[in-house]
Amino acid sequence: VTITFVEPDGTEKIIEDAVVGESLMNVAKDNGVEGIWGDCGGGCACGTCHVYVDEKWQDVVGKPDDIEEMTLDMVTEAQQDNSRLCCQIQVSPELDGVRLTVVPAE
Ligand code: FES
Repeated sequence: VTITFVEPDGTEKIIEDAVVGESLMNVAKDNGVEGIWGDCGGGCACGTCHVYVDEKWQDVVGKPDDIEEMTLDMVTEAQQDNSRLCCQIQVSPELDGVRLTVVPAE
């Protein structure tokens, strides 16, 4: 599955071999994507895996659940409609080609 992360400096990191079932935070970390720290280890608690989902992918990726929404409210001022914590998104075949912009932690 191919995932594109746009790093804070605009660099596109294209990862072509993301494994189905992995969290996107782990995929990003394994591939050294700048700006994704995953400080809480994927517990939906730190907000250091914040991304904006490309507009045309929003329906496929879906919305944050209540807990994720709460974390986003707490940890970031930069929250938008298309904000997600990427530790809460699992790689799936449907996500092939998805594009995410890394939001640097504040
Ligand atoms: Fe901490 Fe996603 S890794 S919220």
